[in-house]
This record gives sequence, C-alpha cells and structure tokens, in this order.
Amino acid sequence: PIPVIIDCDTGVDDALALLFAVRHPGLDVRAVTCVAGNTDVEGVVRNTLTVLEQAGAADIPVARGAERPLIEPVRTASHVHGADGMGDLGLPAPTRRPVDVDAVTLLRREILASPRPVTLIPTAPLTNIALLLRTHPEVVRNIERIVFMGGAVEVGNATPVAEFNVWHDPEAAAILLTAGVPITMYGLDVFQRVLVPAADVQRLRASSEPRLRLAGELLAHRPSAPDPDGDDPSGGLGDAGAVCAVVDPAGITTSLLPVEVSLAPGPTRGQTIVDRRPRPGEAEIHHGERELQLVDVALDVDVDRYVKLW
Ligand code: BDR
Ligand code: CA
Repeated sequence: PIPVIIDCDTGVDDALALLFAVRHPGLDVRAVTCVAGNTDVEGVVRNTLTVLEQAGAADIPVARGAERPLIEPVRTASHVHGADGMGDLGLPAPTRRPVDVDAVTLLRREILASPRPVTLIPTAPLTNIALLLRTHPEVVRNIERIVFMGGAVEVGNATPVAEFNVWHDPEAAAILLTAGVPITMYGLDVFQRVLVPAADVQRLRASSEPRLRLAGELLAHRPSAPDPDGDDPSGGLGDAGAVCAVVDPAGITTSLLPVEVSLAPGPTRGQTIVDRRPRPGEAEIHHGERELQLVDVALDVDVDRYVKLW
C-alpha cells in the first residue's frame, strides 16, 4: 500500500476522506494531523478522533497542529460545516486523546521513518505543511508527492476567485507551491463536480453498519446557511476526491502548469493564478520569464469512476 498522511480540518468532507482512506487496502494511513480551518483546532482534533473511532481505525496517531494561519486570523466555516464543524450530527465524544507531540513533529517523524516515500494529502489550510517545510526541509527527500485539495482554476468559493483552504492561509499555500516537491492540485474545478447520487446517499443512511450510516449522514449534510436559491447540491465527496486522486490518479486529467498564489491585499488575495497560456506574453517579453513551480493541476474528473471507487 501507498504510505500516506492526511492533514485535515475535519470538516464534513474531510470526514468522508478519512472514512475512505482508512478502509482502502491500497493505502497505509501512517498519521492524521489537524489544523484550524473549518472549525478551531480543538474541534478538528475532536472530530478527527471521533471519525477514526467510528471507522474502526483508532490506532492511527492523530496530532494537533496550528491553531491559526501564519498571518491571517482564524476564519472558520461554521455556516457550511455546522457549529461543531462536522454537520452537528450529535456524534459521541472520542475516547482517546491526540498524541503528545505536535503535528509538525509527528509529520517529520512519520515521513522520515517510512521505508517508502510518503504521499501527503492536505485537505485543509496549508499552515502545518508550510511550518513543516520551513522547519524540517530534510523531509522533502522522503515525500513522494503532495496531493492537496485547494485552489481553483476558474471560480472561488471563499471569494469570487479564492478557494477556502488557500484563502484561509495564502502565505502557507505559497510556501507549499514553491517547495520543489511534486504537487497535484485537486482544486474546486473538480472538487465540486464529484456528487454521489441521492439514491446511494439514502441507501447509506439506511444501512445497519454505523460507519456506512455516518457516511450517508455526512453526504446528506447541507450548509446551515444554504444558498438563497436552495440549489446547493448535496452528496458531494469534496475532500474525499483528493484521496481518490491518490488511489486512482488516472481518474483525473491534469496539466503541468505554473501556479502562483496571490498574496496581495485586496480582492485577489488567496487566488491561485494558473497560467494556461500557450506561450509567454508581453509581461515575460518585457520583464523576463519568472521561475514558477509547475504543478499537476486537475482540470477534469471522471465523476462516476470516483463515486464508484469511494
Ligand atoms: C475546502 O474547504 C473546506 O470547507 C472543505 O473541507 C474543503 O477542504 C473547500 O474549499
Ligand atoms: Ca477540508
């Protein structure tokens, strides 16, 4: 199996990612690390431990990470993920505690201890990952790839142009995107398309297996402040799609493209600017080519394939 570490802000769809990852025989989840995002880091740790217990994976080490972004204040998403950050489903409190080292320490330890290079799957603001890359740059030699949910080629969600995870901590995303590690960007363009059909969601909700029921309840969750037209789709696999992209990379179509995060204050802050031009433009002609890391950007996804896989 592929050794992976998931860095998350659980999170309704982070929970869907965890439920899938710990059960898939092709993955070996070495650790799960938590960061502030959808809810505060305390809540993320609690939700993560609860989900892993429900999934029968209470032996996977979980660490608490950054409680705020590098520069920005915490700006949670309770209007989407509920007051507890995970759909207010009334789940039991976890029976265990996180490990007694912080997320960056656990990430370093697990990455360097792994006999095979590790794939990191961040499904949250990139604060922990940025701190790891800056504090322990030696980890890069044992990272296979970073497949992150974040960014958008076209339309944003937190702002018209910025996706939540990148917008929440743009400086951290910029550190990731200049780290020199192979990166896949599983952005909003594909994230929003992978929807489980309503009949399958109902089937899961009716299951006698608690963990399948939980998956069904999470899929049925709708934002507590729905869009005024009421056409928010339910059934979204969300972050779980990024895990599918690790198990089955052929299910997405990617292009290797330069990506830059806008760090400027103002309306573009947190935007991932993906350069899809076929040739350099006037800016490059007048000011020279800029060195940007090339990222495998997901531009299309085989929806049925990922729904079936999950
Ligand atoms: C991302 O932000 C969170 O709300 C989701 O869990 C996902 O990681 C989508 O922008
Ligand atoms: Ca998330």
